[in-house]
Amino acid sequence: MEPVVETVDLTKTYEGTTVVDKLNLRINEGEIFGFLGPNGAGKTTTILMLLGLTEPTSGVARIGGFNSTREPLKVKRITGYVPEKIGFYEDLSAGYNLAYTARLNDLPDKVIDQKINDALAVVGLSDVLEKRVGEFSRGMKQRLAIADILIKMPKVAFLDEPTSGIDPEGVNQVLDLIGKIAKEQKMTIILCSHQLTQVQRSCNRVGILAKGKLVAEGTVDKLGRDAFAGGKFKVEVQLTEITSRIVERIKQIKGVLKVDTSGDTMVISCTQDLRPQIAREIVAVDGLLVQMKIQSYALEDIYMKYFGEAV
Ligand SMILES: Nc1ncnc2c1ncn2[C@@H]1O[C@H](COP(=O)(O)OP(=O)(O)O)[C@@H](O)[C@H]1O
Ligand SMILES: [Mg+2]
Repeated sequence: MEPVVETVDLTKTYEGTTVVDKLNLRINEGEIFGFLGPNGAGKTTTILMLLGLTEPTSGVARIGGFNSTREPLKVKRITGYVPEKIGFYEDLSAGYNLAYTARLNDLPDKVIDQKINDALAVVGLSDVLEKRVGEFSRGMKQRLAIADILIKMPKVAFLDEPTSGIDPEGVNQVLDLIGKIAKEQKMTIILCSHQLTQVQRSCNRVGILAKGKLVAEGTVDKLGRDAFAGGKFKVEVQLTEITSRIVERIKQIKGVLKVDTSGDTMVISCTQDLRPQIAREIVAVDGLLVQMKIQSYALEDIYMKYFGEAV
């Protein structure tokens, strides 16, 4: 399958400093690709080159088979872009702003009102159609930006830091919406973020950028396997009572790396899924198991591995 978004050795240098370094990305149609990495990693610069808004120093960026540098107009026609600082006309209403996008994209007059109503309904902003965008919260603006994308209906949408500055409830609304439109509209979505933990659940695949270089790429699961060579699991066990005898027995199980206890809960780090062995040891000393959960790789752990710091 031909990728819908592709970069080949894409490089950008500002005054002698390389901020995007021989980047090779391939993103397939319909994917939600998480383009992740700390601030200053080069994510926005990469998007701007893909959109044909800034020229690469070397290498190639392509969207839908068009060369972003040589055919920027063709690229613009099939892409949507929500920058970190969303640019709406603050003095105008939500509806007017969307109508502006509709006209810019040559939508026939007779369908515009319906399109606007439909798009606002999807993002839950129907009741603020006539409200000035200047009065919107950041979360509302982000949802309006998604409505804007639904008006344009591009093949590929780039969302730059869509969750920054939004409260947790708003973040969930935005991420749910992104998932919904990717699925229903078969849109390819590139989600740029430095907030890995927030966005990981929404991405089919992620690429982690550090200092302009792609340091890891794949599903969250695959990255976990690569990062921990052999795998890492955490088993969380809740008991009616934790005794030192139980803890000692569990520490003896082959593959158990660490046991932390807190109240009635034990968190056991291990190299493999040791739930059966753990349950056996608990039962052997008449412990009463309330529940047992397993967590596998979390993107936070991967982030720690690549950047050596917490998110
Ligand atoms: N127009 C510019 N001129 C000079 N340096 C820039 C410019 N734009 C970005 N940079 C630098 O390039 C690096 C990558 O920035 P950026 O792509 O915005 O990172 P990210 O989006 O991952 O936070 C940063 O060090 C930033 O300061
Ligand atoms: Mg950025």
